[in-house]
Amino acid sequence: MKKILITGGAGFIGSHVVRRFVNLHPEYQIINLDKLTYAGNLLNLRDIENKSNYRFIKADIVDSALIKELFISENIHSVIHLAAESHVDRSISNPLEFVITNVVGTVNLLNAAKNAWKGDYGNHRFYHVSTDEVYGSLGDEGLFHEETAYDPHSPYSASKASSDHFVRAYHDTYGMDIVISNCSNNYGSYHFPEKLIPLAINNIKNLSPIPVYGKGDNIRDWLWVEDHARAIDVIFHGATTGSTYNVGGHNEWKNIDLINLLCKIMDDKLNREPGTSARLITFVTDRAGHDQRYAIDSSKLQKDLNWTPSLQFEEGLAKTVDWYLDNEEWLQNVTSGNYQSYYNEQYSER
Ligand code: NAD
Ligand code: DAU
Repeated sequence: MKKILITGGAGFIGSHVVRRFVNLHPEYQIINLDKLTYAGNLLNLRDIENKSNYRFIKADIVDSALIKELFISENIHSVIHLAAESHVDRSISNPLEFVITNVVGTVNLLNAAKNAWKGDYGNHRFYHVSTDEVYGSLGDEGLFHEETAYDPHSPYSASKASSDHFVRAYHDTYGMDIVISNCSNNYGSYHFPEKLIPLAINNIKNLSPIPVYGKGDNIRDWLWVEDHARAIDVIFHGATTGSTYNVGGHNEWKNIDLINLLCKIMDDKLNREPGTSARLITFVTDRAGHDQRYAIDSSKLQKDLNWTPSLQFEEGLAKTVDWYLDNEEWLQNVTSGNYQSYYNEQYSER
C-alpha cells in the first residue's frame, strides 16, 4: 500500500483532504502529520480516526531530523503538503513564525523527500498546496492566471510565495516530481473562527459586534472547502510533473455584501427579527497592506482535469451556518483557551 503523507491534516482544509483520501482511496495508507497548533484539532477527524488506512503523527515539519527519519522509516511514497501558518492578521503580528513554518518547514520536507527518493524521483510526487495571495492584489478588472507574476504583500503571502519558489526549484534543480496549486478563499465546516466567515457566524450567534475591516469593499473569491479537497485529489492524480493549477470558485463577493447575506441567513435560522444581525456590523480599522481584490481563473483546471465547483455560494453558506449551529461543542472547544486572548488583542485596538 502506498503511504501518502498529508501534512496539516488536522487543520481546516487538511481535515477535508484527509477525510476524502481515507474514504475514497482505500488503496493508500494516509499518514496525517500535524503539530496541532491552535489551528489543528483532532476533533476535525473523529469520523475517520479509527479507519484502518489512517494514522496520525504529532510532529513539527520544522524538526528536520525527525522529518528526514520519518520519510525513510515509513517509506513515504508521496506528499500532499498543507501544514502552514495560515492567518494574515497573525502574520502581521508575528512574521518570523510564518517564515519558520511556511518556508523552513517546506524546505525540510523537500530535503527529506529528496534524500529518501533519490534516484527514483519520477515515481514520487510532492504536492504543495498554496494560495492565490502570492499573486498580490487585483484592481477592478482581470483574474489571476497561472502565469500571473508573484507580488505578495503580507508576511503570510510572502512566506507562501517563497515556499512555492523552493518547491519549483527542487523540480528544476533536482528533477523532483512536484505540483503546486494556488487556491482562493475556502469556506465550510471546521473553519477556525479567526477567519471572516466563521468569526462572523460565531459573533452573530452570540450577538457580538461583527468587525468589518475598512469600508468592507475588499473582494474575495469564495470556494466550498470540499470542492477544494476534490480539486486537490484530481490534481494529485492527474497533473503533469512541474505544473501549477489555480483553483477558485468564480464567486466574487465584497466583504460587506457577504456579511449582509450571512446576517439574513442567520436571522432566518435563529428566528430573529429581520435586521437584528445586521445591526451588529461594526466598521473597524483596516488591515495593514490589505489586498483589495482576489479572483481566480481556474479554466486550466476545468479544461485539463474536468474540475468545476459544485455548490452555489448561497447554498454553501447556508450549509455552513447549519454546521456551526449544529456543532456547538466544536465551536466551544476551539474558542475556549487562547482564542479569547487572541481575539481581545486583535480587535481591541481597531
Ligand atoms: P489551518 O491554519 O486551518 O491549518 C493548518 C494546519 O497546519 C493546522 O492543523 C496546524 O496544526 C498545522 N501546522 C501548523 N504549523 C505546523 C508545523 N510546524 N508542523 C506541522 N503542522 C503544522 O490552515 P488551512 O486554512 O487549512 O490551510 C491549509 C493550507 O492551505 C495552507 O498551506 C494554506 O496556505 C493553504 N490555503 C488556505 C486557504 C484558505 O482559504 N484557508 C486558501 C488557499 C490555500
Ligand atoms: O485567498 C486565500 C487565502 O484566504 C488563504 O491563503 C488564507 O490562508 C486565508 O486565511 C484567506 O485569507 P484572507 O485574508 O482573505 O481571509 P480572512 O478570512 O482573514 O479575511 C477575508 C476578508 O475579510 C479580508 O478582506 C479581510 C476581511 N476581514 C477579516 C477578518 C478576520 C474583516 O473584514 N474582518 C475580520 O474580522
